[in-house]
Amino acid sequence: MKNTLRVNNVIKPFNRKISVEGDKSLSIRWVLLASLSKKKSIAYNLLKSEDVLSALKCIKKLGSKVKLKKNSCEIFGTGLSYNFKEKLILDAGNSGTLARLILGLLINTKKEVTLIGDRSLSKRDFSRVTSPLKKFGMTFKSKNGKLPLTIFGSKKPASIDYFENRGSAQCKTAVMFAGLKSSGITNIKAKKSRNHTELLFKYLKIPIKIRSTRKYDFIKLKRINYINPLNYKIPGDISSCAFFIVLTILAKNSQLFIKNININPSRTGLITILKKMGANIKLLNIKKYKGEKIADIFVKSSNNLKGINCSSALNSSAIDEFLVIFLVAAKSKGVSIFKNLAELNEKESPRLQWGSKILTELGIKNISNKNSIKIYGNPKISITKKIKVNNFLKDHRVFMMSVIAALTFGGKWEISDLDSIKTSFPSFLKILKSVMH
Ligand code: S3P
Repeated sequence: MKNTLRVNNVIKPFNRKISVEGDKSLSIRWVLLASLSKKKSIAYNLLKSEDVLSALKCIKKLGSKVKLKKNSCEIFGTGLSYNFKEKLILDAGNSGTLARLILGLLINTKKEVTLIGDRSLSKRDFSRVTSPLKKFGMTFKSKNGKLPLTIFGSKKPASIDYFENRGSAQCKTAVMFAGLKSSGITNIKAKKSRNHTELLFKYLKIPIKIRSTRKYDFIKLKRINYINPLNYKIPGDISSCAFFIVLTILAKNSQLFIKNININPSRTGLITILKKMGANIKLLNIKKYKGEKIADIFVKSSNNLKGINCSSALNSSAIDEFLVIFLVAAKSKGVSIFKNLAELNEKESPRLQWGSKILTELGIKNISNKNSIKIYGNPKISITKKIKVNNFLKDHRVFMMSVIAALTFGGKWEISDLDSIKTSFPSFLKILKSVMH
């Protein structure tokens, strides 16, 4: 079985320099925003993963022209109104971000569109975006509020007041996108979440007003008539880098230098949490790029890790990293508590459940419910048993978490669905091999 990875040995000490692929959130946002400009946009270091390739296929169907080259990607967009003659089907593959964001852009579609996705995406909740979009005037047909979803745009979408209370950047962005094509002023009160869309709007000179408090962002925006092209060098993805940060922290006598990573504060919960747990991480060469913050990350094996009672205020800035944070908790002295994490079960797989399951396989006592997990760490953790990981809805992050656990804690592992890495981090194994040799 080629699609199963076997790991039988822990990783030897290493001292390496790596870089990871482009940020997924920024790559998908670049594709969608570039599709709205009539002029040519160019991106460098665009993530060429299945999620981003699905985004490119969708905008092509909607009328954009795409030239994907070895080191760059060019998009010749349609302008704000998409340009297609017959009703069509858009396939978002595995990508919740693409599926939810593109719905906002289809607010005024004149022809019927059906949005579909893979098995994992078809299990996920879409009412969180269809509810606000219906208030703009869009209508939807679906069996259970999930994909496949048939979409009918509104002739005259009208702005709304929207309260986003999950801390979901996908919901916030879908509404921001719809607001660009709707009459009146769209007012959003959003629980803090990643703010790439806001930064890109500002860079593109889209009129947007933002007021922030500790817990919420208040956003005001209105209809625009055109959008400038967007040239962008996409920095490395901290969510991909997270697997290598944790690998280094948990490995013996190792160090790693990771170049050019997006350290937007709305994404760096991982670093804040791990530092509080005693991890040895430094941010170097910090600079600004088009509103985003970028740095090199230097990380070393960390021996005196301690448990954490993690503040829920950090949840949204570490939302994609909790699985590997749980591995650090497994090796820490004392108990760790992570709460208000129901959203983790809304991801590509029910990740809070998967985290708990893998910790139990590792012999780490943990108590979890729908919302939280308590982990009883063991600094001496070392295992020899056989562990099989499968049937995880091909969740790329469950796959990569399992590989890191195998390489740091030991055991004889058989992990299925190696191809799941293609959705977010196709070069994961190649980079891992370069660290190992
Ligand atoms: C994303 C937002 C997060 C995150 C996802 C990417 C984005 O989802 O989990 O991987 O690019 O906006 P939610 O907004 O649903 O929390």
